[in-house]
Amino acid sequence: MENKVKKIREEVESFIVSSSEELEKFRISFLGSKGSVKGLFSELKNVAIEQKREAGQLVNGLREFVQNKFDVLKEELESSSDDNQKIDTSLPGDSIELGARHPLSLVRSEIIEIFSRIGFTVSEGPEIEDDWHNFSALNFPDEHPARDMQDTFFVQRNPDWALRTHTSSVQVRAMENVTPPIRTISPGRVFRNEAISSRSHCVFHQIEGLYIDKDVSFADLKQVLMYFAQEFFGKAKIRMRPSYFPFTEPSAEVDVYWGLENEIDHKITKGTGWLEVMGCGMVDPNVLKANGIDPEIYTGYAFGMGIERIAMNRYQIPDIRLFTENDKRFLTQFKTGL
Ligand code: PHE
Repeated sequence: MENKVKKIREEVESFIVSSSEELEKFRISFLGSKGSVKGLFSELKNVAIEQKREAGQLVNGLREFVQNKFDVLKEELESSSDDNQKIDTSLPGDSIELGARHPLSLVRSEIIEIFSRIGFTVSEGPEIEDDWHNFSALNFPDEHPARDMQDTFFVQRNPDWALRTHTSSVQVRAMENVTPPIRTISPGRVFRNEAISSRSHCVFHQIEGLYIDKDVSFADLKQVLMYFAQEFFGKAKIRMRPSYFPFTEPSAEVDVYWGLENEIDHKITKGTGWLEVMGCGMVDPNVLKANGIDPEIYTGYAFGMGIERIAMNRYQIPDIRLFTENDKRFLTQFKTGL
């Protein structure tokens, strides 16, 4: 008798119920009038009189156990089907809000795309730079006044480190890592100690271009910039005004001819018809030398532009601070740019 009770307990325990049909099967096979528990009760009469009490207790205990198990299974089944009924599959789902790419990313990708079409690769450098990569290797001597125009943030732990003031530092990293020909553009974040206003910020972005090879001339530089102006702005005419950068010689500012057809043209170009877009020049021989490239064999050009400035022009954004404020009303306007 003891063994039979044990066996039925085991069967009850391993019985899996996941539907009301299975629950009914459980009831019939254990508790039904022909079920195994009932069967044991009828066997009781064959048990010797002195063992009857004990056997009776065993079988009663089993019945209670099976009944409890049945109640628990029934409740579980009912509550899980309750849950099912709580889900109304006819309701419209929660919509997932679609984000938008940041206008600076849109402009950066477009510029990268334009230059990669003519063989420029993309390279990047660190935002925390040492004096060598940001200044000295770019022909900014110590104490040179050109450094004053690019005051930045320094790292207290190491006075040689600063937040880079321009992506020209990546030119140096490209030159030390690769032997010419080098043809690369370097997008990245830069920092300057500037008072924040609607036109300038202490954190902004640039894209640098560098091309070094044999026989690279100023005409090549001009041709590439005309190509860029045509592709990005849809404007064919540019002009180059003499300028100064320690790391290029000669140096120039590049203006794109925008036109003066309407009021916006006047506003964008301050009434001149010309839009200033970047600085550029032929890589100074001192820079090539400092980076182990023989200026007698190689020449090159470099250019650098501010992404914010170009994005402000493209999307008519009146205030540079909007780029970093994370105001969704501003950011969601660029959804179509995805
Ligand atoms: N690094 C310069 C700046 O920050 C731009 C520049 C890049 C000029 C490359 C010439 C050549 O203003």
